[in-house]
Amino acid sequence: MNQVQPISTNDKNPDGWPFWSILIVDDEPGMRNFLVKTLVPRCHTVIEAASAEDAADILLNHHVDLIILDISLPGRSGVSWLKELREQGFSGKVIFITAFADLETAIEALRAGASDFILKPFRVPQILNAVKHCFENSQLARENYVLKRTLSSRSQITHGLVGHSPVIVALNQSLRRFATVNSTVLLQGESGTGKELVAHALHDLSPRAQGPFVPVNCASMSPELIESELFGHAKGAFSGATKARDGLFYYAQGGTLFLDEVAELPLALQATLLRAIEDLKIRPVGSTQLLPVNVRIIAATNRSLLEEVVAGRFRKDLYYRLQVVDITLPPLRSHKEDIPDLVQHFMAQLTPLLGVATLDITPTEMSYLQQYDWPGNARELRNLMERSLILGALNVSALFSLGQSVSESTTDTTLQRRGTDLQSLEKQHILAVLDSVQGDKTQAAQMLGISRRTLERRYAEWASL
Ligand SMILES: Nc1ncnc2c1ncn2[C@@H]1O[C@H](COP(=O)(O)OP(=O)(O)OP(=O)(O)O)[C@@H](O)[C@H]1O
Ligand SMILES: [Mg+2]
Repeated sequence: MNQVQPISTNDKNPDGWPFWSILIVDDEPGMRNFLVKTLVPRCHTVIEAASAEDAADILLNHHVDLIILDISLPGRSGVSWLKELREQGFSGKVIFITAFADLETAIEALRAGASDFILKPFRVPQILNAVKHCFENSQLARENYVLKRTLSSRSQITHGLVGHSPVIVALNQSLRRFATVNSTVLLQGESGTGKELVAHALHDLSPRAQGPFVPVNCASMSPELIESELFGHAKGAFSGATKARDGLFYYAQGGTLFLDEVAELPLALQATLLRAIEDLKIRPVGSTQLLPVNVRIIAATNRSLLEEVVAGRFRKDLYYRLQVVDITLPPLRSHKEDIPDLVQHFMAQLTPLLGVATLDITPTEMSYLQQYDWPGNARELRNLMERSLILGALNVSALFSLGQSVSESTTDTTLQRRGTDLQSLEKQHILAVLDSVQGDKTQAAQMLGISRRTLERRYAEWASL
């Protein structure tokens, strides 16, 4: 599982090319070399595997958007492997390549969810066109997704944060007040503290509730494409822009645009965003026309945006424009009295989804839950409840067996902790979790309820101390 895989990356994508991760699975080294040479200059990450087993290992640890898959792999058929992958939930695109084609296999491959089927030997433009085609398809799927989310956010109206601690009660009160005004809101707080939930609630309780709620994750879009994603583009704006396209700002007309992980927005684009917010007009990439927009902006970040300003990574003027209303979500360890409410809430939310019975939680178990520090905040608690409901038992000892030092210090509730103590406690805990999964950062991040990115950022912060 920990073997080193050949990975090539490229940070500069030519216009119109996806910022994608591609996995090549073929037992012929010559074919892999050819594909790597063709794709590396255009795609973000290209990974190679010589067998389905190696490829399965890679998928455990890497995000992959597209697999280019040989049909006759050593010892097994690529088609049957793809069926297995789909059953396990792999939703990326797949292009099959093969030297021996028969119609039956081709049909079977397409049924298993392949996007394309290419005969070897093939030329460079053939494979490039197939990859581009996959990319365009997934863009369409995303547009559909935005539309569906808009619809479903209407059916699951959220009214705020669960909990009756003074800090949560006060937050819910401000939330109701801020929902009625049109001001830009900046949500700050650690990962998993409920920023997205609050953004939804602000929308659902606002006069714009009937309009769309459009979430945009600024961290997951490639810096090259983000401007056209947000503002749209004119026909011919860049190579590959064969049609004009509306941006996410436009999708949010009459509603709310939620700029999640706003600290990740490239500096160059921050100026453009500021202008759009101030003038309430956008200019699609390559267009001379300004389009008026009627959108409320809610931004969120799990970093301190002020620190980003001080470090020169975030524009001061945009910062002040975004934080007209500033809401900071508290970490769960600072309002542990809400844990019983949250446990009941997550249980009620999850049991119908999972189709399982509720669990009886003993007072001792609940007190353990309240002794733990929840570095992944409410999301970590929700993940634990989900795992426990599936297993039919609450495994609190797992929380503490991960890090002995955590259980020792957390049982001493009278201990006064300063910021640095908390930091080292968090570090110990994260390291213990990592240790328990043999250093698999993706799995550790999942267990902690934080993103892999956050985990890596913490790492980098410790390194710089
Ligand atoms: N006070 C709360 N009441 C009810 N549910 C909550 C509360 N806080 C968080 N949650 C739930 O916990 C999960 C994580 O919250 P959310 O996605 O809003 O976090 P976030 O702050 O946006 O995190 P990130 O910075 O990682 O994006 C969600 O399922 C959310 O509904
Ligand atoms: Mg979020």
